[in-house]
Amino acid sequence: MTENAAAGPRIEQLLADLTTKEKVGQLIQYFYFSIPAGAEGVDPFMARQPQAVEAALAEGSVGSLLFVTDPEQTNRLQKQAIEGSVHGIPLLFGFDVIHGLRTIFPVPIALAASWDADTIERAQAVAAKEARAVGIHWAFAPMVDIARDPRWGRIIEGAGEDPLLASVVAAAQVRGFQGSELGAPDHIVAGPKHFAGYGAALGGRDYDEVDLSDQEFWNTYLPPFKAAIDAGAGNIMSAYMDLNGVPASGNHWLLTEVLRDELGFEGFVVTDANAAKDLQTHHFAADAADAAVRALNAGVDMEMGVFQPAFETLVAAVDDGRVSAARLDEAVRRVLVVKEKLGLFEQPYVDVQESVRVLADTGHRDESQRAAERSAVLLRNEGVLLPLSAESLTKVAVLGPLAGSKRDTIGPWVFDFDLDETVTVVDGIRERLAGTASVTYEQGVAEPKRTFPSMFEAFGDSSPSAPADFDADAAFTRAVEAAADADVAVIVLGEQQDMIGENASRSDLSLPGDQQKLLEAAVATGTPIVLLLMNGRPLDVRWAAQNVPAILDIWYPGTRGGSAVAALLFGDAAPAGKLPFTWPRSVGQVPIHHAATRSHAPDAQGKRYWDEESTPLFPFGHGLTYTSFEYSEVRVDRDGSGVNDTVTVSVNVTNAGDRDGVEVAQLYLHQRFGTSSRPLRQLKAFRRVEVAAGATQTVTFEVTPEERRYWSAAPHDWVLDATVFDVWVGGSADADAHAEFTVAVDA
Ligand code: BGC
Repeated sequence: MTENAAAGPRIEQLLADLTTKEKVGQLIQYFYFSIPAGAEGVDPFMARQPQAVEAALAEGSVGSLLFVTDPEQTNRLQKQAIEGSVHGIPLLFGFDVIHGLRTIFPVPIALAASWDADTIERAQAVAAKEARAVGIHWAFAPMVDIARDPRWGRIIEGAGEDPLLASVVAAAQVRGFQGSELGAPDHIVAGPKHFAGYGAALGGRDYDEVDLSDQEFWNTYLPPFKAAIDAGAGNIMSAYMDLNGVPASGNHWLLTEVLRDELGFEGFVVTDANAAKDLQTHHFAADAADAAVRALNAGVDMEMGVFQPAFETLVAAVDDGRVSAARLDEAVRRVLVVKEKLGLFEQPYVDVQESVRVLADTGHRDESQRAAERSAVLLRNEGVLLPLSAESLTKVAVLGPLAGSKRDTIGPWVFDFDLDETVTVVDGIRERLAGTASVTYEQGVAEPKRTFPSMFEAFGDSSPSAPADFDADAAFTRAVEAAADADVAVIVLGEQQDMIGENASRSDLSLPGDQQKLLEAAVATGTPIVLLLMNGRPLDVRWAAQNVPAILDIWYPGTRGGSAVAALLFGDAAPAGKLPFTWPRSVGQVPIHHAATRSHAPDAQGKRYWDEESTPLFPFGHGLTYTSFEYSEVRVDRDGSGVNDTVTVSVNVTNAGDRDGVEVAQLYLHQRFGTSSRPLRQLKAFRRVEVAAGATQTVTFEVTPEERRYWSAAPHDWVLDATVFDVWVGGSADADAHAEFTVAVDA
């Protein structure tokens, strides 16, 4: 549908019949918190919210609700909406379906580490099915914000630093959520967020201002949104922060010229929670009424309102002409079209019995385990400690507070999980070794804690704490003794799930609490140590990278995380994930990413700090497996072709080990000269390949003109240079198999 073009007859009739107040109601989304009667310590506004929302439903002036996940409740509220509206317009229910609803999948950064679009699409299809079964129509996901600063807690929700990988992941998620088309059965609307540039918050401080150059904006931060929109995303969420001094949610250039005119987005735009009202907080809008007008006129269609949404004031703004009737209708039309496409006018309710059956489907838990196995990244494996041989072990020690924590295993941004079916690392190892080896679990140190509560504590959700009588010295001693006494010790360290995510930025990347001390003491016993990292951002593991033979990043692996980890440790599955970000040595190197340009004194490029290397601890794209791969004979088919031609690059990938394996072969490009200086290396293509032990496979990549095109600050436009390219193919951004090719001006 093009802007302002007529929708179907039902929608056009509604637009003719609705009052201004009813139209404005369609543009408001309220939070609906199900607060148990008599609950203590509840914010008084929150406590009054359900009554206020139900009063608005009775007047037929609500477009959407969020945070309702109980199917009986969605049916009840839907009925109120339909009966309250003279026109019987159903509600749209939205929710943060980030990495699963009931079945929790690995966190999004972990899914991205699989570099496997099929796995990602399957994960979000399961999430969509569960969500739709309980009456949710729309996910506030995927988060497609590029993140190059691991201090920013929301790095966990995205696909990391690279625009190509993030674009592939974004499109896969949209396909998973939405299926073949908007309105496909068992699927929901995808809402890529937060438009745009939110990941570049100054200092990694969540919600803080973003100052992005045009080239960063077009070349790095926008591509994943473009990919998500091209994949058909039905919604976009606007962001909280200022973009170059103009709040994203009141930014006409961003929400209309870029989003609609450049990217061709045709769905509806919702603000982030409270972001319209927030235009006052930014000292941008004079008052709530001004904020509503500026958000709507900038291109927002729906306000996600926490309490008393600013959009409630729009009736007056339409009456006095600050908002045109045409703009109001355009926004309402976009919202109604989605409701129609989802079939809500015909079937607004869900079958509660069916929802119970869908949520109980153990096949969903199997999918989650598969995704966790594919997401893990083997960072180090000195002396080929992994995989462990279950047959030769009699005593295994498992250490660390995260190893036994169900809540941490599934990670942040989940609400409808069932902890009873969550498998921790200790559970998974015990199950795998049942009857063959003894498994001792010692947490060793107290759970590290945040210095102020996470925003989700208000919902009663937080990571576990050590009991008041926790004897730290005794626990530490027991853990070290268990390690000393074992054939191998598996130690799980990282951040508790509430230390990362929204409003969970950190100024430091070290292992929180006493975990480093426990690690060093465990290593000092001389027992072989496997370090499992539970994290959503790179942590400072410089010491471990020198002193611990095996390091496996398991992220927050989800409902069946422990089973996946056990399968990986004992070689029933092999890790094949790759880092979606560059792993810094310490926080002082931040920001650091692989696509940097070259500049003065390149020989000293490795010595940009006198007190630290300037290379990362692990490069972007790094990840080992239980065999090894060699790359040779990079070939280019059309050296000397025109700028508008696609160049095909082939490489031989040899599995040099004695076990079949999976490798993500990555192609990096470097443009030697041109209109701008271009990154020394930039990911331009990748393929996940299975190669049998000892075999060689030819892998082919297409390097399209689109991949060589970039936005340049010289002409302030897109360019495609005739120039010479270096191409490297390998298993990480340190790839060294090389070729070069020239592209000439088209004849
Ligand atoms: C977050 C969004 C989220 C919304 C609704 C906001 O605080 O920034 O990503 O979708 O809350 O929960």
